[in-house]
Amino acid sequence: MRILAIESSCDETGAAVVEKKDNQITVLSNILATSSDMHAATGGIIPENAAREQVKVIIPVIVEALLTSTKAGGEKQQDASSWKTAGQVLRNEIDAIAITYGPGLIGSLLIGVETAKTLSLVFNKPIIPVNHLLAHIYANYISVINHSPSTIHHPYIGLIVSGGHTDLLYFKSHNDYEWLGGTRDDAAGEAIDKIGRMLDLSYPAGPEMEKRANIVKTPSIKFQSPMINSNDFDFSFSGLKAEVMRYVKKVSTNDTKLQNPQKFDANLKNQICYSTQKAITDVLVKKTINAAEVYNCKTILIGGGVSANQKLNKEFKLKIENLKLDIEVFAPGKTYATDNAAMIGAYALMNGKEKNWKDIKSNPELYFV
Ligand code: KG4
Ligand code: ZN
Repeated sequence: MRILAIESSCDETGAAVVEKKDNQITVLSNILATSSDMHAATGGIIPENAAREQVKVIIPVIVEALLTSTKAGGEKQQDASSWKTAGQVLRNEIDAIAITYGPGLIGSLLIGVETAKTLSLVFNKPIIPVNHLLAHIYANYISVINHSPSTIHHPYIGLIVSGGHTDLLYFKSHNDYEWLGGTRDDAAGEAIDKIGRMLDLSYPAGPEMEKRANIVKTPSIKFQSPMINSNDFDFSFSGLKAEVMRYVKKVSTNDTKLQNPQKFDANLKNQICYSTQKAITDVLVKKTINAAEVYNCKTILIGGGVSANQKLNKEFKLKIENLKLDIEVFAPGKTYATDNAAMIGAYALMNGKEKNWKDIKSNPELYFV
């Protein structure tokens, strides 16, 4: 089965062609346009701006994904003839359309959902609505080099760590899963981005925070890992943000005021990045492994933008080794950890259910249903 998948829940517009053959999920094309530069200027996403950018790029992104998935190739310069060829690819080679219907920003979601419904109607293709959060976990089913999803077995624990969400789930099977806990305030990625803004890091801040943290050989600051000893599966990251802010204020001199983080000493910035990253990864690793032990799971799947963090991945392996546990951790790798359309296709291929296009509605508040 071959699927055209579309993702437009936030500031990324993605389209991918994904195929399932012999139990392997292969990505034939995966195109992403992002308006993150625009949001870097405002220090966060303004929903109306994100939606306007989605409108501009959604058709070209879908056309490029369709053309790239075949020998036709994905020319950058699209014209009427390349659009026509893309239409032929959709008509002749695609079995169904998968679309993110929530959660996310309503304006952004509407653009993807209404586009997918229109294509479904015009090209007479079944449509499969996909929960963006579950898709972050299902990104792990995509076959890539050195990663064999055929070894993923239920039951497993899923950890979603993205810009908007931090959730722990217990999957008994594809359709039988339980939400164990989540953040009570900021998501892990949200805390990283807000702290990054204090430090004048590039937006989103995760990749630069990781790079700076890697430079630190002798850590000199320690921030608390919020809720690390609480006897539940919940998280909280807004206190960490406040702790970092207090620290920054304390060490600010007349020259390096909070309003002027560009003037911070690079080493100080690196140290704050290291300690922020450590406080976050420590609690994510501890609670996720706890959940795996309590629910007797030998597999953990992580997903979402923060799961691209190599230190997080290493800490999982290290802790499992130290505790001599028989648990395997899967992460999707950078391309499929952050928002993308291929993961939407992966979910549709593993567990998707077709719906009549008339019954599909964008749902910004969609959670785990
Ligand atoms: O999953 P995602 O692309 O979008 C949402 O669904 O929210 O996640 C974006 C988040 C941002 O907060 C970003 O700073 C974080 O993922 N992120 C990282 C890394 N790459 C992206 N956080 C830590 N380390 C990274 N390497
Ligand atoms: Zn996401």
